[in-house]
Amino acid sequence: MSFKPTSILVTGGAGFIGANFIHSFVGNNPECSVTNLDCLTYAGNLKNLAALEGNSRFRFIKGDIGDAALVAGILADHKIDAVVHFAAESHVDRSITGPEIFVRTNVLGTQILLEESRKHWQSGVVENFRYLQISTDEVYGSLGETGYFTEETPLTTNSPYSASKAGADLLVHAYHETFGMPTLNTRCSNNYGPYHFPEKLIPLLIHNIINKKPLPVYGDGLNVRDWLHVRDHAVAIETVLKNAAPGSVYNIGGNNEWKNIDIVHLVCDELDSRLGRDAGENRNLITFVKDRLGHDRRYAIDATKLKADLGWTPSYTFERGIAETIDWYLDNQEWVAEVTSGAYREYYEKQYGGGVA
Ligand code: NAD
Ligand code: DAU
Repeated sequence: MSFKPTSILVTGGAGFIGANFIHSFVGNNPECSVTNLDCLTYAGNLKNLAALEGNSRFRFIKGDIGDAALVAGILADHKIDAVVHFAAESHVDRSITGPEIFVRTNVLGTQILLEESRKHWQSGVVENFRYLQISTDEVYGSLGETGYFTEETPLTTNSPYSASKAGADLLVHAYHETFGMPTLNTRCSNNYGPYHFPEKLIPLLIHNIINKKPLPVYGDGLNVRDWLHVRDHAVAIETVLKNAAPGSVYNIGGNNEWKNIDIVHLVCDELDSRLGRDAGENRNLITFVKDRLGHDRRYAIDATKLKADLGWTPSYTFERGIAETIDWYLDNQEWVAEVTSGAYREYYEKQYGGGVA
């Protein structure tokens, strides 16, 4: 029998995937209320949720997942029966230049959220409860030319970001084993789509092409990522939340592997005609730069378990998803201007010495 949440807490819902999840979940679940706890780091923006302003089933609370008293109060006050935990520091490059905040948010923050969730669940205030940890395929490390990550692949992490996410996953596993807490864990491949912060590859390419700025390609450009539209991820999360057995782990991915340089060419070429430029013109912006330290070579997700157990399948073809995403960025330049001001400029000036749009 499927679990029907009535009041969920989403952490990090002002970020890229959290915001897309909230839009999707609110639309699909008219009887459930949604509380979003987000401290609004550089990556969080309430504009991502503007369409929900005035919706009586949605509330936003500005705060930190590391604030135990705040979390305990939210869980009790709103009789939360499911926690969907997105909040994190999510950018690998930032974890190389400043790992400390990754441990603080992704490991310690998760532990506080888990502990307050455990107390709330054990208090019996709600009849049914689920805690869903949003993890990543990066906890499995790096693949060679062949093979896939399954849920049985050992965790092997190569960046401070992935190490912090794996630390959180192990805590989630421990809370299930030690306390019998009804936890769930999903590990998804690279997402793309609306509201993606333009420090990540695809939105950075779109932003820099529009502004005729260099397109930094790390190393030889032959690293492989497995791309999934963020709305397909959102539906997969809802499917796991409602139908998966407590204690289970599910991979999420759409069998859509691309070498970075091929993605760069694709986005360049899609934008040539949209921007009225000559065929091939945008490719002149490609600039090979120093490789990312500890750069994972290839990710590829085997999502057979999710498809077989719970019947999820992605609905977007990459062709449609990337075209719609590019159009979304062209139509939402005001959003881009807002999120790329201030701290974003400082970060990129430090990273690339002035290649900032
Ligand atoms: P993001 O960086 O866009 O958003 C993170 C959000 O968390 C922001 O709104 C930020 O303000 C908030 N946040 C950060 N620290 C917080 C804290 N201490 N308290 C409260 N809120 C805090 O991230 P994203 O790309 O949307 O990723 C969301 C989750 O999905 C992360 O856990 C990430 O590891 C995971 N994930 C991301 C991808 C991807 O391709 N982006 C793929 C798989 C899994
Ligand atoms: O696989 C899931 C992960 O995907 C998530 O857990 C992370 O939160 C998310 O940031 C993402 O990590 P990646 O490191 O794969 O994504 P990013 O967009 O930073 O980089 C994608 C690839 O492109 C990677 O091989 C590095 C390369 N790259 C990236 C940037 C930003 C470049 O060549 N140039 C760039 O400027």
